[in-house]
Formats: sequence, structure tokens, C-alpha cells
Amino acid sequence: MSDKILGFIGAGNMAGAIINGIVGTKTFPAKRIFVYDINKDKCEALEQKTGIQAVSSIKQLTEECDIIFLAVKPQNFAEVLASVKPAVDEKTLFVSIAAGISTKYITDSLACGCPVIRTMPNTPLLIGKGATALSRTANVADEDFQLVLSLFSACGTVTVLDESRMNAVISVNSSSPAYIYLFAKAMLDSAVSQGIDAEVALQLICQTLEGSAEMLRQPDLTPEALIKMVSSPGGTTLKALDVFYEHHFEQMVDEAMKACTKRAEELGK
Ligand SMILES: NC(=O)c1ccc[n+]([C@@H]2O[C@H](COP(=O)([O-])OP(=O)(O)OC[C@H]3O[C@@H](n4cnc5c(N)ncnc54)[C@H](OP(=O)(O)O)[C@@H]3O)[C@@H](O)[C@H]2O)c1
Repeated sequence: MSDKILGFIGAGNMAGAIINGIVGTKTFPAKRIFVYDINKDKCEALEQKTGIQAVSSIKQLTEECDIIFLAVKPQNFAEVLASVKPAVDEKTLFVSIAAGISTKYITDSLACGCPVIRTMPNTPLLIGKGATALSRTANVADEDFQLVLSLFSACGTVTVLDESRMNAVISVNSSSPAYIYLFAKAMLDSAVSQGIDAEVALQLICQTLEGSAEMLRQPDLTPEALIKMVSSPGGTTLKALDVFYEHHFEQMVDEAMKACTKRAEELGK
């Protein structure tokens, strides 16, 4: 196992999910993970829950750690990078999880030629079912990249992408749990309005989502083929689909995903 020391700046939802995942699966020892957050309570809560070590300043964290995860909101990047800059050199590896922030923005802000891995995880990481996309600058050592891949693999699947796709991918794996929950909520509300018990409906919807995802993974089964499989001529499904098509469902999803990507581009400016 690597002897590197990991540091997290930001102890929020995503940092908590990643740390829980890597510590819970024993992929990386808690005692070699440090965390700093301006909110001391969040830091201490994460320390107590996972056994990692909370530190009281960014300076201390940067001095202790070889690999620093930038786990704050994109809006806080400028201040965080300014605080980190005096204490880092080209040996420190940065791993960003922020929407929209490019590796160039990070390297330009730090002005030290440090290697950067840009990642886009999602909240199902919390239960080990995440989907993380990653890209890296050319100077990231293979060994370090493999270590970071192994950390995210402990919390779900990993996919390596060219950085030019890292804004668009947010609409695919990272913001998308929210669209799926919105769809599930709408189904749940309709089920209840039709007299089905909410708990029963939720179980049926969750199992249907899981089963449908598993069917989508089967080789040779396209979304179109699977829709056809459910749609008997003159049957109930076609009536439901007619309503979706009347409301231009696919166009709505396309517009929503492109709005997501556009916002990532704005956040990066
Ligand atoms: N949530 C998602 O589904 C998701 C998915 C993929 C990627 N991401 C990315 O993950 C990053 C973190 O998101 P999150 O949802 O985990 O946010 P979060 O829960 O708000 O966590 C960010 C933490 O950083 C702290 N912070 C703010 N300024 C700081 C500073 N200068 N130094 C140290 N800590 C500071 C915040 O404290 P305060 O709360 O006191 O400000 C907060 O505790 C974002 O860049 C986001 O784009 C999120």
C-alpha cells in the first residue's frame, strides 16, 4: 500500500462520502488522512465518525500531505488556492472534485507546475455505488493516478475521460441523481394519488429502477429495444409514452442536461 498522506480541504457532503468509502472499505488507512474545513464542527464530526485527523489550518494540512483533495464549492476555489499556494511545490498532487474548475485554473493559480487530477463523482458514493469520471494533467505520475483511481473505485465505478468532456459529464453522472429522484418523486406522488400506499409504491419504484438499470446493462439491449419490449400494441405503456412524447420529454431532458453543462462552464470562469 502507498505511504502517501492524503488531505481534504472541505469536510462537506462529497468529502464525507469519499472518506467514508475509502476508510469503510479499508482501501486507505484513516490515520493517514487529514481534513480541514472552515467549519470546525464539520471537521470534528468527520474525525469522530471515520477516525481521520482534523487539522486547524490549511497551512498545517498542506505541510503534512502529499495528495490534497480540493472538496470545496467552485465559488470558494480562489480563496482556497490562494491559501494553499505559499506552502506547496511541484511535488504536491491536487485532486479536484469541483464542478467546472479546470486543471489549468488550478495550475495557473498555484503557479508551481503541480500535477492535478480532475474528478467528477456523484452522491451514491455514500453507499459505495458511485460513478466517478476522472481526467489528469500530463505530469501526474502513473502510480499516483492508480492510487487515486483505487480510492474512487472503493466507492463505485471509475471512468477516465479527456478533460474536454469533464463539464458535459456533470450532466451525465453527477447532477443526474437529482433528475432521477425528481422522476421517482413524480411517480410516487402519482401512485399515492391513485390509492397505492406510499411505502409500497416506493419499494416498487426502487426495484423497478434497479431492474431497469440492470436490463440496460445487458449486451445488445438498447433503450429503444427495451421500450419496445414493454409496449404491447394497444396496451397501457403506449398510452403512457404518448403523454411523454406529447410533452417533448426527450427534448426536455436534452435541454436540462445542456443547462447543467452551461452552468459548469460559467462556474469555471
Ligand atoms: N454534491 C454533489 O452531488 C456533488 C457531486 C460532484 C461534485 N461535487 C463538487 O464537490 C464539491 C463540494 O461539494 P459538497 O456538496 O460536498 O459541498 P459542501 O457540503 O458545501 O462542502 C464544502 C465544505 O467546504 C467548506 N468551505 C468553504 N470555504 C472553505 C475554505 N475556504 N476552506 C475550507 N473549507 C471551506 C464549507 O463550509 P461552509 O458550509 O461553512 O461554507 C463546506 O463545509 C463542489 O465543488 C461540488 O461542485 C458535488
